[in-house]
Amino acid sequence: MEERIIAPEELVGEEKIDLSLRPKSLAEFIGQSVIKENLGIFLEAARRRGEPCEHVLFYGPPGLGKTTLAHVIANEMEANVKVTSGPALERVGDLAAILTNLEEGDVLFIDEIHRMNRNIEEVLYPAMEDFALDLVIGKGPSARTLRLDLKRFTLIGATTRLSLLSGPLRDRFGSIFHLDFYGPDEMAAIVERSANLLNINLNQPTAASVATRSRRTPRIANRLLRRVRDFAEVRNNGLFDELAVAGALKALNIDDRGLDETDRRALTLLIEKFNGGPVGLSTLAAAMAEETDTLEDVLEPFLLQEGLLARTPRGRVATKTAYEHLGYPVPESLQTLF
Ligand SMILES: Nc1ncnc2c1ncn2[C@@H]1O[C@H](COP(=O)(O)OP(=O)(O)O)[C@@H](O)[C@H]1O
Ligand SMILES: [Mg+2]
Repeated sequence: MEERIIAPEELVGEEKIDLSLRPKSLAEFIGQSVIKENLGIFLEAARRRGEPCEHVLFYGPPGLGKTTLAHVIANEMEANVKVTSGPALERVGDLAAILTNLEEGDVLFIDEIHRMNRNIEEVLYPAMEDFALDLVIGKGPSARTLRLDLKRFTLIGATTRLSLLSGPLRDRFGSIFHLDFYGPDEMAAIVERSANLLNINLNQPTAASVATRSRRTPRIANRLLRRVRDFAEVRNNGLFDELAVAGALKALNIDDRGLDETDRRALTLLIEKFNGGPVGLSTLAAAMAEETDTLEDVLEPFLLQEGLLARTPRGRVATKTAYEHLGYPVPESLQTLF
């Protein structure tokens, strides 16, 4: 399989390195200052009351630190963390078993929480609200419910798209945090931190150029850094300089805005085949032979953020910046817009 630097899920084998680079405490976590400040207060308050922290939901594009923050909360609370995900929970019994095994103060992390079945989700409502599990015993008219008490725990949910979460589930979180793309200085700091941990000797300009090609996303910065290291060791006498960065980026086909081939293919198709749009996301995805979800969760947020793509009520359109970036003449209709 070809390597995709913006692959949505953590790749097997990279997980170990990901773990070693993962910040363990709030203090180590770079950026997202509003979230950090709020979490710091919640955690301190919960510690003083001697209670578990309230349920928290994180949402935002992949690779920005949702899983990391879930583990940071558990660390800061000195709590055990149990990890599962929406798609992994197939039956009500799966979730019931997890919930009944939780100890006081444990953190339950449910990744991709929007992909949980509705009937499983309903088990969570009383669990989150009253720390109770309602079991239905028997069938038909003689069925009755039995309420089991659970230990007080903290549920942490993560999702790429808040809009896919049902209202009742969303309402049961004490706080909901949106993770946004990182700024250039934050990205540079993240690259420098990771480089230190990987024993890579990067100077500041080189760190900055890795940072600017990383789609404002820490996971991608870490991946890129490892590719730069490979390139430096194999082709560049072990030197981590601009040449190594340029070589790695060229090998990965990443351009100076941090777009990879898939991004450029999406924009090129939009411009060439659909006249710049508007076109529905699923139509564009079909033309690219990609999953609509991948396009919406992985590609689109960054392209929107960079002003290369725009959303209109009738579909997605390529912006003037997209035409310019890809070297197409800007159509008359866009000359004055954007
Ligand atoms: N704020 C941050 N500071 C430093 N590294 C980070 C930060 N956020 C994420 N990372 C790194 O990026 C990787 C991906 O983060 P992760 O929490 O798995 O993202 P998500 O769950 O949102 O997809 C982590 O392994 C971690 O090393
Ligand atoms: Mg994650």
